[in-house]
Amino acid sequence: MNTISFHERVMLVGDDLMSQLLHIARKAAASDATVLVCGESGTGKELIARYIHEMGNRKDKAFLSINCAAIPEGLMEAELFGYEKGAFTGAWVQRIGKFERAVGGTLLLDEVTEMPLALQAKLLRVIQEGEIDRLGGKETIRINTRLIATSNKEPLQLIQAGRFREDLFYRLNVLRIDCPPLRGRKEAIQNLASFFVGTLQEKYSKNKVRLSRSAQELLTNHSWPGNIRELGNVIERAVLLSESEEIQSDEIAQLLISPKRFDDVIQCDQSLAGIEQNHIERTLQLTQGNKTEAARKLGISVRTLRNKLKQYQDVA
Ligand SMILES: Nc1ncnc2c1ncn2[C@@H]1O[C@H](COP(=O)(O)OP(=O)(O)O)[C@@H](O)[C@H]1O
Ligand SMILES: [Mg+2]
Repeated sequence: MNTISFHERVMLVGDDLMSQLLHIARKAAASDATVLVCGESGTGKELIARYIHEMGNRKDKAFLSINCAAIPEGLMEAELFGYEKGAFTGAWVQRIGKFERAVGGTLLLDEVTEMPLALQAKLLRVIQEGEIDRLGGKETIRINTRLIATSNKEPLQLIQAGRFREDLFYRLNVLRIDCPPLRGRKEAIQNLASFFVGTLQEKYSKNKVRLSRSAQELLTNHSWPGNIRELGNVIERAVLLSESEEIQSDEIAQLLISPKRFDDVIQCDQSLAGIEQNHIERTLQLTQGNKTEAARKLGISVRTLRNKLKQYQDVA
């Protein structure tokens, strides 16, 4: 199996599709062009972004990222552009933003299509002019920061819906890389599964384990809504829990989340709060415990989600 190591990460080239994708990524790395990496959650967008940085001549400089889906609008602006002391209540000291800290290196605008429209306009200006103003700052600062952006939704659809600026899209979409979903890619699923078995048994100092044929079949037939991230998590749990040297299909079956199963579990004698708790817990399963993503799916803030989880814990 063909693996690529960079910056303490190991990436597996799972199939031809992936090898083609990495070929484009290396081309992108050879330039300073802005890259837009699109694909469902868990398909490896961040890993590809990092790879592009590591393969280019900025690799010795900073690689910073900002998650545009997780940070409240007001904070995001300060995070990106920084601020001067006294710029707003609470700005006790000067703070340099990520754009400036990543000068010479790369800034990853993760889930850029979630950025609020007002901030999209500011970002567009920065890209066009190549300079930023810190909040409350008097001088403009030239920046030479390479941008890579990711989106787990199709940007063109968001433009149609009026949620993403078309002009910003064209600025970001100089080069585009699409990370394909995992479902149906038999070879990639099998190669990634054995790769994860190998690395995880080492991580947990387990005796050698392998996947039975039927376990492999089950894996290849699963639809992987959480893509490579979900596959990695399933294998991680399977390796941890396995007691024999061969992981059986029923052990895998127990770990797979079937979206259909979710539909059947609401019972009519449940309280609304109970249904809410179930729904939250199931969403968290689906996002592999990722609270930011779960909160987004649920349409609530991460803070609200954390509060609710804390309540459930206190009750239990
Ligand atoms: N080709 C690959 N080989 C090994 N691990 C991978 C590969 N692609 C993705 N992963 C792993 O899958 C997980 C999800 O990848 P990530 O880049 O965070 O996806 P995304 O940003 O699209 O949600 C990470 O743990 C990442 O290391
Ligand atoms: Mg991501």
